[in-house]
Amino acid sequence: MLYADCLSINSLGHLAIDGCDTLMLAEHYGTPLYVMSETEIEKNVRLYQDSITDYYDGRGSVAYASKAFCCKEIYRIMKRLGASVDVASGGELHTALSVDFPPERIFFHGNNKTAPELARAVEVGVGRIVVDNLSELELLDSVARSAGKRVLIQIRIKPGIDPDTHDFVRTGQIDSKFGFALETGEAMDAVRWVMNSEGLELMGVHCHIGSQIFDINPFAHAAEVMVGFMAAVRKETGLALTELNLGGGFGIRYVESHNPAAYQSYMEAVSRSVKAACAQHELPLPFITLEPGRSIVGAAGITLYTAGAVKKIPGVRTYLTLDGGMADNPRYALYHAEYDACVAARAAEPRDTLVTLAGRCCESGDLIGEHMPIQPPQEGDIIAVTGTGAYNYSMASNYNRLPRPPVVMTREGSHRLIVRGESYDDLIAQDI
Ligand code: LLP
Repeated sequence: MLYADCLSINSLGHLAIDGCDTLMLAEHYGTPLYVMSETEIEKNVRLYQDSITDYYDGRGSVAYASKAFCCKEIYRIMKRLGASVDVASGGELHTALSVDFPPERIFFHGNNKTAPELARAVEVGVGRIVVDNLSELELLDSVARSAGKRVLIQIRIKPGIDPDTHDFVRTGQIDSKFGFALETGEAMDAVRWVMNSEGLELMGVHCHIGSQIFDINPFAHAAEVMVGFMAAVRKETGLALTELNLGGGFGIRYVESHNPAAYQSYMEAVSRSVKAACAQHELPLPFITLEPGRSIVGAAGITLYTAGAVKKIPGVRTYLTLDGGMADNPRYALYHAEYDACVAARAAEPRDTLVTLAGRCCESGDLIGEHMPIQPPQEGDIIAVTGTGAYNYSMASNYNRLPRPPVVMTREGSHRLIVRGESYDDLIAQDI
């Protein structure tokens, strides 16, 4: 289960993250607790950045998809690393701006952005607005004209690629709520619409085919389809688009059986595909943006819980109850997502007991996983679930009025609180 470089087992046999003993962290901050390794996050961003240098002569950028894990500190980190970010709502935009994240390095996404959100994005000068549909084009054009600005946009295309992943996180196929379809001519109509608009300038095209994808081929294929569209745009309208945003979606290893490719190989394959397609269509190479979310923060995070009752149901299963659950990690409930877990104090011992990790919400489906191998657990043990850095804190809820746990960031043996845990008073703060 030590899939991330930041995880290790220390001389006491305890699970450690970035050299910090997880039992010490649990004692110091309490449980449930999210812990994120800054070292791991930084390593992953650099891997992507370096792969763009190595395979595409540096003509590209990494835009971290902040929906995966969003708080002020992650924008500070991305700012320091020179990365761009993808925001998907006014709330994410506000969080980024609150720490002076450079607006020109922000991509604004969403399939139903509101007029106030668009107005704010235009006002602050967001780098690119990635437009999803015709209504949004019309709305944004009028927002741009009333602000007296020309707004730089990309349009989101459904490239018609259907990757092998969970139905809820597939987005590239024609039956998707996201983006303009190629097959129906909708995407080309959108290009013409923008060319005739006063307030908008089309810089490039965007696609995102889905999430937690292991196979590199769909990404390379999507890149080829997108370049084909850019060529068709130039032929039919004369417009030379210079930007190609290929979204995110690269899978990570949550459990032993997952086998993701090395991050570098995505850019290697994608750049080969883009270069070949550009040569075929006699197009100049576009500036590429990658938007990884999960693969930057996912493996960098763990969640620490304290075990409650161990319920053995003879011949059926053993429930190990936790002081958290679907409220801090809804991914098993939503996608039957898989995770690994261990008893933090005995991390080096064999995981030879199967348990169902159950949360404390009033739902039978409130599980972190079923039949998970773990060291024989006892009430009071600190239980670590690994690979929880993406789409856990950002998807947490207050169901059953459970306060959201704090988030701690580690870095080479040091640790610091980056998000305070909610108090009961926080929970009633908005109630009238
Ligand atoms: N770009 C766009 C436009 C996206 O919609 C997404 C994710 C990404 C980039 C980043 O994708 P990633 O590299 O993280 O796969 N809640 C689900 C995942 C939903 C992904 C939504 N969009 C989960 O927990 O698995």
